[in-house]
Amino acid sequence: MPTMRAAYASSFDPDNPLAALTVGERPEPTHPEEDWVTVQVRASSLNHHDLWSLRGVGLSSDQLPMILGCDAVGTDPDGNDVVIYPVVATPGDPRGVSILSEHFPGTLAERVAVPRMNLIPLPTGLPATDAACLPTAWLTAWRMLTTKGRIGDGESVLVQGSGGGVATAAVTLAVGLGKRVYATSRDAGKRERIAALGATALEPGARLPERVDVVIETVGEATFEHSLKSAAPMARIVVSGATAGHEPKVNLRRVFAMQLEILGTSMGTPDELTDLLTFCAEHEVRPVVDSVVPFSRVEDAFARLHSGDAFGKVVVDHSA
Ligand SMILES: NC(=O)c1ccc[n+]([C@@H]2O[C@H](COP(=O)([O-])OP(=O)(O)OC[C@H]3O[C@@H](n4cnc5c(N)ncnc54)[C@H](OP(=O)(O)O)[C@@H]3O)[C@@H](O)[C@H]2O)c1
Repeated sequence: MPTMRAAYASSFDPDNPLAALTVGERPEPTHPEEDWVTVQVRASSLNHHDLWSLRGVGLSSDQLPMILGCDAVGTDPDGNDVVIYPVVATPGDPRGVSILSEHFPGTLAERVAVPRMNLIPLPTGLPATDAACLPTAWLTAWRMLTTKGRIGDGESVLVQGSGGGVATAAVTLAVGLGKRVYATSRDAGKRERIAALGATALEPGARLPERVDVVIETVGEATFEHSLKSAAPMARIVVSGATAGHEPKVNLRRVFAMQLEILGTSMGTPDELTDLLTFCAEHEVRPVVDSVVPFSRVEDAFARLHSGDAFGKVVVDHSA
């Protein structure tokens, strides 16, 4: 059976996810349906999702070994440069869909199979290593600000836990959209870097100079009360994660008196990913990249993400 090189979960380790990672040979992609194609991966990027998978969250042991990775840019069978939209219809999943590396093998491999409709042309001028950052964390942030947050002219935004992957994306995109951006981080060094992106960086819980129209929440329990207090009347608090706990106390009196909207969201649509790619290409907005690691050293990319020291995306260059 022909094989290819891949980074995959071979077991689960809740305490040390790196111990569950194997880099080695896996069978070449197969096509579950006729309309699937194989893409030669040029660049991919890591998400915390990959570490959760290695910890055994979202995967069961009968799905092992599972090739990791949600994000990728590659070359399709006709030689076109494409960005892969990572959400795939999955009838057996209660959500009706799954993200690559959940039910179907992921992008941290020489090649990956996806439905042809999941291929989006790589816009001219957008480097593959930058575009490979966009399909998961950046798409989530884009939808939070636009479709869900409905951020308008002259409006302001608060991004909580701004050192995180989705959060740095939200800061960069909101600045790119010309909004007033406030961003909290526990870490002074990260606050300095967030300020360099064009946001007003604050300590968690700090009083803002104004109440904001949109709040970007991925932290959860540790910041949610501050999010509620910082929201202007009619504000939208958009939640896509709860890294620090998913059961915050919610002051409902404030929710109805201020007519706040609390909106959950996950990922985004292919059209939203196309809009995001076009926006980044046309406005020269580029993702914050922590490091670009050659595929031959993909273990180092995982170690970097796991260290917690990464600021922005850890990218894997599959040509090296
Ligand atoms: N729904 C979706 O489609 C989707 C997509 C991507 C991610 N997510 C979810 O969104 C969440 C964030 O993902 P990510 O990749 O951005 O994660 P991440 O890089 O780990 O960022 C989380 C950030 O939260 C802050 N934080 C963590 N613990 C905290 C605490 N105890 N108190 C205050 N702040 C704390 C930190 O910011 P500072 O260090 O700057 O304070 C950290 O950088 C995760 O739960 C992930 O599963 C959801």
